[in-house]
Amino acid sequence: MQALNKKTIEDINARGKKVLVRCDFNVPISGGKIDDVKRIAESLPTIKYLAGEGARVILCSHLGRPKGRFDPKFSLKIVAEKLAELLGQTVAMASDVIGEDAKAKASALKDGEIMLLENVRFHDEEEKNDPEFSKSLASLAEIYVNDAFGTAHRAHSSTAGVAAYLPAVAGYLINKEISVMGGALSEPKKPFVAILGGAKVSDKIGVINNLLGKVDALLIGGAMTYTFVKANGGQIGYSLCENDKLYTAREIVEKAKEANVRLLLPIDHLAADAFKNDANQKECFGACIPDGWQGMDIGPETVNLYSGVIKEAATIIWNGPMGVFEFDNFANGTKEIARAISESGAVSIIGGGDSAAAVEKMGYADKVTHISTGGGAALEFLEGLELPGIACLNDR
Ligand code: 3PG
Repeated sequence: MQALNKKTIEDINARGKKVLVRCDFNVPISGGKIDDVKRIAESLPTIKYLAGEGARVILCSHLGRPKGRFDPKFSLKIVAEKLAELLGQTVAMASDVIGEDAKAKASALKDGEIMLLENVRFHDEEEKNDPEFSKSLASLAEIYVNDAFGTAHRAHSSTAGVAAYLPAVAGYLINKEISVMGGALSEPKKPFVAILGGAKVSDKIGVINNLLGKVDALLIGGAMTYTFVKANGGQIGYSLCENDKLYTAREIVEKAKEANVRLLLPIDHLAADAFKNDANQKECFGACIPDGWQGMDIGPETVNLYSGVIKEAATIIWNGPMGVFEFDNFANGTKEIARAISESGAVSIIGGGDSAAAVEKMGYADKVTHISTGGGAALEFLEGLELPGIACLNDR
């Protein structure tokens, strides 16, 4: 584990103080129900600690992308209800963010009580990191806590701007995310294996470049495979391919050689004749997906090869699914890699987004060391970038 070089909630005295806590309650909702409460559940340790210390807790978050105006579809009311249920405590819901209701409810809070502001993105100043808006948010409280790891890559008012006006510290979730992922990057137990999937090489170049200097092996999966296969002269049918990234793919292969990193590409593919679950399937060996077919998943030989490397690993970072796992008929590669990781005994970190969803969906969530709550934020952290939501916090 790596220690966060920022002050945390344990470094402050919050008793009797109004504390503005930025969480990432951007949760998936369908049919009026929250589909996945992980982000809410992961925010509970910080909220409970602060309430237990006698703070007056003012929670805030965004939900979706409501384009700077009130839209009941993006109201956080549903989150306040879930929070109250999980905490076993009333959570007062403000009908605005910096308006009269928010101010009145914040001033009425007693020690240990909790409230939630409306969606900060109901104001377009939020995403502009507008100083006046940041100042108004800050004026609701005396201390700022950022615990929204999932939004720490955004330099918005509630994730960064507000820190200019209040003492600013990290919550437990941010502390955990940075300690676990930072520790794996800076002092990994070897062998250190990274598994990268997803659709595009362009989305992962930063992560690949950062990891090449650290890992022993890099296993590639997902649709970005086909850009590599084509760059190496292989046949990919009509698989997804970034033709403008062929040179980049070749460069990555060369850099891996220079860095003595074992870069593995799939040795077989499960292809389909259409992009749908019930399409006809064909197993293709080697770098030859015929015309009229597209790669949809890694094949069984690749699963064996990758599982062998994963079994030997002491540290694993996984970001991006191995295939179109949303379609059951093309989920096997992703499922088997999730299983191999869960059985490996290694320190295993799932870098958020689709791979986190896959691990949860496939029932391996409690068998891995850490599943990040960040999608884009985890990716930027793995790229080695400074996250504005963390940079803005007070140094230790
Ligand atoms: C996420 O879900 O990745 C975060 O909540 C950030 O959301 P955004 O991409 O809309 O900024």
